[in-house]
Amino acid sequence: MTNFSVEVSNLSKTYRSRSRLRSGDVTAVCDISLKVSGGEFFTVVGASGSGKSTLLHLIAGLTEPTTGSVHVNDVNLFSLTDSQRTKFRLRNIGIIFQAFNLIPTLTAKENILLPSLIDGHRKATKDEIDHLLNTLELYERRDHRPDSLSGGEQQRVAIGRALLMSPALIIADEPTGNLDGQQRKTL
Ligand SMILES: Nc1ncnc2c1ncn2[C@@H]1O[C@H](COP(=O)(O)OP(=O)(O)O)[C@@H](O)[C@H]1O
Ligand SMILES: [Mg+2]
Repeated sequence: MTNFSVEVSNLSKTYRSRSRLRSGDVTAVCDISLKVSGGEFFTVVGASGSGKSTLLHLIAGLTEPTTGSVHVNDVNLFSLTDSQRTKFRLRNIGIIFQAFNLIPTLTAKENILLPSLIDGHRKATKDEIDHLLNTLELYERRDHRPDSLSGGEQQRVAIGRALLMSPALIIADEPTGNLDGQQRKTL
């Protein structure tokens, strides 16, 4: 994994307000540069509203920057088309969203399997999915839909979905905020 890298250069994001005066514009990320190599772990710390989620969404290629670039493994994410970027993300990046973003009509197991169902290049095996369900203590709840799961259980489904394909890059936005102390240590 040592040749893996994420390189962020002069990244900024301003959310434009709809008013003509622009007084409501919010610069959530301002001129961030950083480099992360394979095997490294880095944490973003800051007050609520300071731009952490925006930065993580930019690095995941989910939000278009106002200025700057993101290279993952030397691929400039924003030089790709939308569909190329989606495919690249599916194969290389696992994202645990702060708000989980589970599909309400799918069960816990189906939500976890989603990356494998969407991207035909590799199917998760039954052993992989069962191992993940057991590690996340979700095996008994695997056939429940998100609306009948607790916040912590939904969060564990979101973690499972991000880990399923063993992505090279895992982006986790407050991924254990809904879990108890023991689960935080285990996961
Ligand atoms: N889609 C959006 N449109 C306008 N403003 C936004 C949007 N998303 C976030 N913001 C604003 O950007 C700032 C940073 O938000 P966010 O990145 O969610 O911060 P954090 O994750 O650190 O709490 C906040 O002031 C928030 O209100
Ligand atoms: Mg946030």
